[in-house]
Amino acid sequence: MSVIPADIESSTVRPGSAGHRRLLARFFLDTHVEYVPERIAWPALTEAELARLTGLPFWQEAVSTENVTSNTVAAAADIEPDPQVRAAIALQGLEEQRHARLLTALTAHYGIPIEQPPRFAPRALEDDFLFAGFGECFDSFFAFGLFALARESGYFPAGLVSIFEPVMEEEVRHILFFVNWVACRRSRLPWWKRPAFRARCARIILKQVASRVKTARALGKGPRQEPAHSAENFTLTAHQELGAGVTLHRLLQTCLRENDRRMARYDARLQRPRLVPGIARVLYRLLPAGI
Ligand SMILES: [Fe+2]
Ligand SMILES: [Fe+2]
Repeated sequence: MSVIPADIESSTVRPGSAGHRRLLARFFLDTHVEYVPERIAWPALTEAELARLTGLPFWQEAVSTENVTSNTVAAAADIEPDPQVRAAIALQGLEEQRHARLLTALTAHYGIPIEQPPRFAPRALEDDFLFAGFGECFDSFFAFGLFALARESGYFPAGLVSIFEPVMEEEVRHILFFVNWVACRRSRLPWWKRPAFRARCARIILKQVASRVKTARALGKGPRQEPAHSAENFTLTAHQELGAGVTLHRLLQTCLRENDRRMARYDARLQRPRLVPGIARVLYRLLPAGI
């Protein structure tokens, strides 16, 4: 299904223009899906499936991350002057809160112990939003592939996997919204402020890359040595847990395929995330298939 607002007629939009902002807000607001985490009927699991689920290393970290992301995004609505785009950011904050509620509901239902972290209060609204957004661009890309592999391998029962499909789709919308928002934000600055904005984005991306390299190194020394980064560790190593046939090469291939498939659903005039798929494409070409 294609989701294209029919009343925005030109075939291209200039980044930051009124048309681009309207397209951005409309795409996001119109594709919001209603569901209530507290009303989900969780499927019964066999003992082995339950052990697999409770043994995943990232529950506490996932709850903490959603706490940070949801409060960061909700607060970031205040920095956006365009009322429609602001409404879209506020809705994204609600969707992130719903992810936190979904995790709370799942962990309560299956008896996975987690501690609710204190509510995160962002201070530097724009920097925090940029940091969270670029982080999502990394994590979501890998999540798309891991999710597809989990679905295809039967690692988890289909009834459980399907509950998380709307979350995956929300993450597609979040990163698509984010890269277009960054383009809007930059192009609305006076020309002399744009280099500094680009440099700030580059610094934040490097910070995100560095944190992932750090976790990859920690993994090289032995699995799960750094509990504070266990969710990131999982996105880097989960393919190994999904079965013997899943190599890094196949993971990259699946991530690229899923990223393209999921992004294709949305208006072609919106900019696409390029950095992470670009790096993954290079790695995919360079890596031998057996790795
Ligand atoms: Fe989320
Ligand atoms: Fe998100």
